[in-house]
Amino acid sequence: MRATFVQTRNVARLWEVVESLHSASLGEPRLGLIYGPAGRGKTRAVDTLAARTGAVYVSAARVWTPNSMLKTILAALGCPATNTGAGNLLRAAEALSERLGVPSLGNGLLIIDEADYLAKGTHPPRTPPLLDTVRDLHDASGAPILLVGMNGLAKLMSQFPQFWDRVRMSEEFSPLVRKEVISLAAELAGLILDDQSAEQIRRATKGNLRQTILHLARLEALAIAEGSSRIHPEWSRQVTTEVARSRLRASGTGLRRVK
Ligand SMILES: Nc1ncnc2c1ncn2[C@@H]1O[C@H](COP(=O)(O)OP(=O)(O)O)[C@@H](O)[C@H]1O
Ligand SMILES: [Mg+2]
Repeated sequence: MRATFVQTRNVARLWEVVESLHSASLGEPRLGLIYGPAGRGKTRAVDTLAARTGAVYVSAARVWTPNSMLKTILAALGCPATNTGAGNLLRAAEALSERLGVPSLGNGLLIIDEADYLAKGTHPPRTPPLLDTVRDLHDASGAPILLVGMNGLAKLMSQFPQFWDRVRMSEEFSPLVRKEVISLAAELAGLILDDQSAEQIRRATKGNLRQTILHLARLEALAIAEGSSRIHPEWSRQVTTEVARSRLRASGTGLRRVK
């Protein structure tokens, strides 16, 4: 399998969200959300976006406090931290606003992955301190901030009106469609998939990108053994059955069945 980054529909969607955040005039809300279940390609997409545009990327952690979050952001910005939380907020806001309008620095974009952690442990009407700090950073810097998280992220964030008010765009990463399975097979493994095989994989994986890549890796091994890059529908059936069986074994169900 090649390490190629494939231009999926979700990647195009992410680019649109970022464009929209950048197109907002100063003072307009510039928060964006990208969400979806694990394995849809969110982290790879935003990581690639950051690498290509110079945007700042950080990944949230359960142990984050507002100040440790700001310190992580400052480190990613290449700025030393100060001795106080307020000082760190000011410095991070200044550093982000200096990047506004600098294309090689992502035009000031800040990406926070695993953003579900920002709202953990607090229930409305109390606003979570981490979310308040993201809002403060957004307001003080004028910089676009993109939060990336799991399925319930938009719903979770919409419970906090002061935060939700500033969200300009919220987009879900959707499951792969058949055509995308075909282009992933070609780009990642040089395989030629017919519609039937692609549909088989799409159904077995429910369009999950990580699972699709796993299926394609097995299919590639089979194709090499058979000496053909044109996939026979029988091979994809074999691979989907094999993956399903190994999952049963991994969950222990298979072992019980043997007894
Ligand atoms: N656009 C892409 N092109 C190629 N591989 C990708 C792409 N997006 C994701 N992947 C791969 O799919 C797997 C799951 O992606 P990841 O970004 O971790 O998903 P998520 O963050 O939604 O859980 C990873 O192995 C990743 O390298
Ligand atoms: Mg991820």
